[in-house]
Amino acid sequence: MAKVTYGGLSYECGGNSILDCLTAQGVPVPSSCRAGVCQSCIMRVVDGQVPQKASGGLKPTLIAQNYFLACACYPETDVEVVLPDAALGKMNTRVIRVEQLNADVLGIWLKPSRPLEYKAGQFINLFKDESTTRSYSLASVPALEETLFLNVRRVPDGLMSSWLFENLKPDDELTISDAAGDCFYVTGKPEQNILLIATGSGLAPLYGIIRDALLNGHQGMLSLYHGSYNPDGFYLVEELRQLMLAHQNFKYIPCVSDGEATDGYTPGMVLDVAMTKHADLTGWRVFLCGNPEMVKTAKRQTFFAGASMRDIFADPF
Ligand code: FES
Repeated sequence: MAKVTYGGLSYECGGNSILDCLTAQGVPVPSSCRAGVCQSCIMRVVDGQVPQKASGGLKPTLIAQNYFLACACYPETDVEVVLPDAALGKMNTRVIRVEQLNADVLGIWLKPSRPLEYKAGQFINLFKDESTTRSYSLASVPALEETLFLNVRRVPDGLMSSWLFENLKPDDELTISDAAGDCFYVTGKPEQNILLIATGSGLAPLYGIIRDALLNGHQGMLSLYHGSYNPDGFYLVEELRQLMLAHQNFKYIPCVSDGEATDGYTPGMVLDVAMTKHADLTGWRVFLCGNPEMVKTAKRQTFFAGASMRDIFADPF
């Protein structure tokens, strides 16, 4: 009979779901519908395998990270499981390079003390001290770079960003968490067109996702719209233009919302520009990152333009 291990203790499942098995033992697993719909009972398997049916309805990016629904999971073999938050460990990193990418965005390159398993576009938590933590998306691609690349936006009076802008230097040590999040590229549909929209440092995960997709031979269109008030707000411009020259299926459209646009910058709010160009998103995959209001509105608009909810990935960092 299959056993479920959680928190160092093992329980006989006895033909019950993992949710029923664990809650009967007093383990506080969040749940609501108990019917595989609401996804509130999501857990992650860290040892063993759960039946395929247990991940029905989850996004491919979550399935790729071994997430499943505890209420829909009737294990056939022994498994060890954790709640999503408990899956994140911590590690030390050394600062390799610090460079301002523009007036408001700091580029930080980190070397982890042990290999970090991650996908470009996921986020890590950065710890300043016990009580100050912030999440930052990874702009690096594991297969291309040994160092982790973060883009930190300066937040007025922000505890973490002010500290990083004013103090961080090469050879400093920083503590980060393992990577998490479902905003990353999944292989398997190389012909699918992909729309990517970012404001500010929301570019970070998309810079990683685009390079990861191209590295994996993605053949569908990759259309990146990056928004800023004025041309000074952009960064990685040369890198993205070079990428566009090297790959016919990648288009980079920097959009300026304030004043006249010149020199290859498109005038208008980034979401308006993108949605005018892409009125029909049926069959498209969509990545949205940056300002939370923009991300919220863009989710709705891209869904109404035909993109499936399963194909819309968002990151409000
Ligand atoms: S409790 Fe709703 S999906 Fe499991």
